[in-house]
Amino acid sequence: MADNKISKAVIKRLPRYYRYLGELLEMGVQRISSEELSKKMKVTASQIRQDLNHFGGFGQQGYGYNVEYLYEEIAKILGLDRIYNVIIIGAGNLGRAIANYANFEKRGFKVIGIFDINEDLKGGMVRGIKVCHMSELEDFVKDNVVDIAALTIPKTEAVKAAEVLVELGVKAFWNFAHTDLNVPADVMVESVHLSESLMRLSYNLKNAGKGDE
Ligand code: NAI
Repeated sequence: MADNKISKAVIKRLPRYYRYLGELLEMGVQRISSEELSKKMKVTASQIRQDLNHFGGFGQQGYGYNVEYLYEEIAKILGLDRIYNVIIIGAGNLGRAIANYANFEKRGFKVIGIFDINEDLKGGMVRGIKVCHMSELEDFVKDNVVDIAALTIPKTEAVKAAEVLVELGVKAFWNFAHTDLNVPADVMVESVHLSESLMRLSYNLKNAGKGDE
């Protein structure tokens, strides 16, 4: 499967297909047409067909899509058919909230360590995971396979922390700090900025109904 040729726009939509298909599976739905999926997802049926055809077209004329098969294939494309070990840097409000969200684990993202610079937080537990001091980070990363580091620390600290982690061989960052990270080309960064999402909402609120004028 030539998934390296799939456009970024399609890759961006795949998690949403995956989520909807997962919900359908939970409801016991075994197959679905692109039209039905289109109504549910509010994406045009032709967009769905176009997107899913990238993967060799799992749909069959007159049958629709086999939900479980499609769900599993998308999981493979997204690399969700394995476990990723995640560490969280920063055991504050956000770091703890992420660690507390057990559903990430269902998707294969397993939090194996939480680190903080604050001595007072050392030894605390979040959903059964011990908070360690940053001084323990190096040994931990050497002794464990760490696939992803989530950075939930202030931006002034995040760049430095990322540099240390890159040195230790970490290749992927889930960056919540409001800053760009200076990482080598073979290191992946996925930044999440909730405030940008709010700004889009603000724009939509501001412009609501303007098209009708
Ligand atoms: P917080 O103050 O509750 O937690 C921050 C934690 O980071 C503290 O426990 C602190 O001791 C620790 N810390 C500071 N420097 C460190 C270092 N060098 N190494 C390890 N730990 C260190 O803050 P909160 O609310 O958890 O937010 C964390 C960061 O995430 C903030 O910078 C905030 O701006 C950002 N944030 C980003 C969001 C986003 O959508 N991207 C949403 C909310 C917060």
